Amino acid sequence: MTLTRRYRFAASHRLNTDALSAEENARLYGKCNNPFGHGHDYILDVTVDGAVDFSGQVANRQALDELVQAQVLSRLDHRNLNCDVPELESQVPTTENLGRAIERMLTARWTLPARLARVRICETARNSFELET
Ligand code: NI
Repeated sequence: MTLTRRYRFAASHRLNTDALSAEENARLYGKCNNPFGHGHDYILDVTVDGAVDFSGQVANRQALDELVQAQVLSRLDHRNLNCDVPELESQVPTTENLGRAIERMLTARWTLPARLARVRICETARNSFELET
């Protein structure tokens, strides 16, 4: 049985890598390379997978919400992903890298009996990314 809970956070970023010149960065990332960055209203879906327990639940919603709040939302919401988040240090804050960072943040303090099965992030109405864990 799986349970998916949906969360939201807002954050800004700029896509740029020191490995490339300014011209190459502009060509690679387009408007996402604009110098002063831009923001997104991200939607985060966290899926857990496990057996239904004596309480009739695959996972306790409140326990999952508290974990996601403490480990992820409190570190990302209304932050600049280029400089405010140690888990993304020295990485380009693409949504692919953001998904991997969120997986690490969650597994570092995971206490639920159910397994973390998937992290899904919607960056825009047209982009979503899924990480099976
Ligand atoms: Ni962006």
